[in-house]
Amino acid sequence: MLISAADIDRRVDELAAAIDEAYAETEMLVLVGVLKGSFIFMADLARRLSVPHRVEFIAVSSYGAIESEDPGAVRLLMDVRHDVAGQDVLIVEDIVDTGHTLSYLLRLLAARTPRTLRTCALLHKPDRTVTDVAIDYLGFTIPDVWVVGYGLDFAERHRTRPDICELPPELR
Ligand code: PRP
Repeated sequence: MLISAADIDRRVDELAAAIDEAYAETEMLVLVGVLKGSFIFMADLARRLSVPHRVEFIAVSSYGAIESEDPGAVRLLMDVRHDVAGQDVLIVEDIVDTGHTLSYLLRLLAARTPRTLRTCALLHKPDRTVTDVAIDYLGFTIPDVWVVGYGLDFAERHRTRPDICELPPELR
C-alpha cells in the first residue's frame, strides 16, 4: 500500500479547505472532473467544499498506446455540458503522469475564456512528466510505480479500492 484511506481522507480535507479559501469570493466554482479516474476523488472533494460549486465531467483518451501515433496526442471523448466562459474553472484529475492530458485540457478550456482556470490533482508522478503543467492543488507526489485504487485502475480493475496501492509487475 502506498497511501492509506485515512491519509487520503485527511489530504482531501486539506485540499478542500485550500480551495474554499482561494475561491471564497466566487459566485460559482465549476469543477471539471476528468473521467474516468477522477470520479471518486471528485465526489469526495466536492462534498467537502463550502463555496458554491457545480460539477461537470469531461472524458479524454490518449492515443499513446498505439506506437505509430504521437505519444502526446489526446482525443476528446465527451465534452462538458455547459459553457464555461466567464466562470471559475477547476480541473479535477486523479493523476498527472506524462502531463499530456492536463496540458491538452488546459489548452482546450482556456480557449473558452473562463474567468479563471486552475488545476487540482490528487497524485503527481514527476519522474514521468514531460510537459510543463502547473498543478495548483496537489494531493501527493508519488514515485514512478503503477498505482491503483481510489479511482485508478489497471484494465478497469481495482478502481474502487479505498486506498492507493502499487500494482507489482507480476500482477499486471
Ligand atoms: C489517466 C488519468 C489521467 C491521465 C494522466 O487516465 O486519469 O487522466 O491518465 O496521464 P498523463 O498525464 O500521462 O496524460 P487514463 O487514460 O488511465 O483513463 P481513465 O481515467 O479512464 O482510467
